[in-house]
Amino acid sequence: MSIPEQHRSYPLNAWFMACWADELASDRMLARTLLDRPLVLFRDADGVPAALDDMCPHRFAPLSRGRVRDGVVQCGYHGLQFDASGACLGNASAYSSFPPGTRVRSHKVVERHRVVWIWLGDEDSADPVLIPPLTRMPEPGGHENIGHYLHVHANWLLEIDNIMDLTHVHYLHLGSLGNESMRSGSMHVSERDGAVRAELVMPGTICPFGPLEGQLCDQWNNVEWHAPAAMILDFGAVPPGAPPIQDDGGYAFHIFTPETERTTHYFFGSSGSYGEEEAWMPKMIGELQNRVFLEEDNPMMEAIEERMAGRDFWDLKPAILSSDAAAVRVRRKIAKLCRQEARVPG
Ligand code: FES
Ligand SMILES: [Fe+2]
Repeated sequence: MSIPEQHRSYPLNAWFMACWADELASDRMLARTLLDRPLVLFRDADGVPAALDDMCPHRFAPLSRGRVRDGVVQCGYHGLQFDASGACLGNASAYSSFPPGTRVRSHKVVERHRVVWIWLGDEDSADPVLIPPLTRMPEPGGHENIGHYLHVHANWLLEIDNIMDLTHVHYLHLGSLGNESMRSGSMHVSERDGAVRAELVMPGTICPFGPLEGQLCDQWNNVEWHAPAAMILDFGAVPPGAPPIQDDGGYAFHIFTPETERTTHYFFGSSGSYGEEEAWMPKMIGELQNRVFLEEDNPMMEAIEERMAGRDFWDLKPAILSSDAAAVRVRRKIAKLCRQEARVPG
């Protein structure tokens, strides 16, 4: 079910986002292909997330075509049941005998920061310490702008390039999130504890949206990448010369997971939790993001994917600009993760 390592652009030994936590309910399974592997995600009887290969060992029916009750998945074809560990529990009919050891492969998942993370590589290396630190994710209860999802027909690294070089906002998002004045900024790239940070500072430019929209301001649009594919933006704008105070709601999350080599799951949202009287705020931000990503980013990513036609990024000898510094650094770190696991026997 997995594809050979030399054809993969992604590591297996990493925590990728499988889904938003609230995509799973006690009576609802989720069928999703992650890293070229068809999976079914659900919650066990205690509400803990679980992931199994989405293929019954009897006649290979997708288990996601069945149902889940009390944490047990029942195949929709002949009714074999499987628990969260993947062990077969038989079926309810008179013909329920099955070979000992019948099971489906299960995978490690962890629910944290309202996200279900999955590890599809070597299980012994699956250390939850490596889960991206989405500590700005709002607690459930208020009005929030999280839980968004888009499906993109493009390789996941193109998506990371896009977020790690936010100068694209000044061109691709001209008139929506960006304007020409913002092209006069400067970028600084740094690295700490394996996280790559690109700071884009644009003093004395026109604010494109928000309370200062249309006014002269000092604005910033920074991004931090955490392996393998979680990016946290901190952005804001203040009147010229004012201290650059970061607003609680000024963090955005962009998280990518390869579905296949040429398609990507795109999860996004932002920080901040709002009361009843401000319920319009996260709603407005979410709708704006959805529209911009869907109408401006996605078509560009998909057009690039089509032009590249499956050819290797480096083989095409891309022209590297100084604004690519963060994106290139991230690409190299991901390539290193892939190389490292290729050297591990088995
Ligand atoms: S295919 Fe699943 S029980 Fe037969
Ligand atoms: Fe964009």
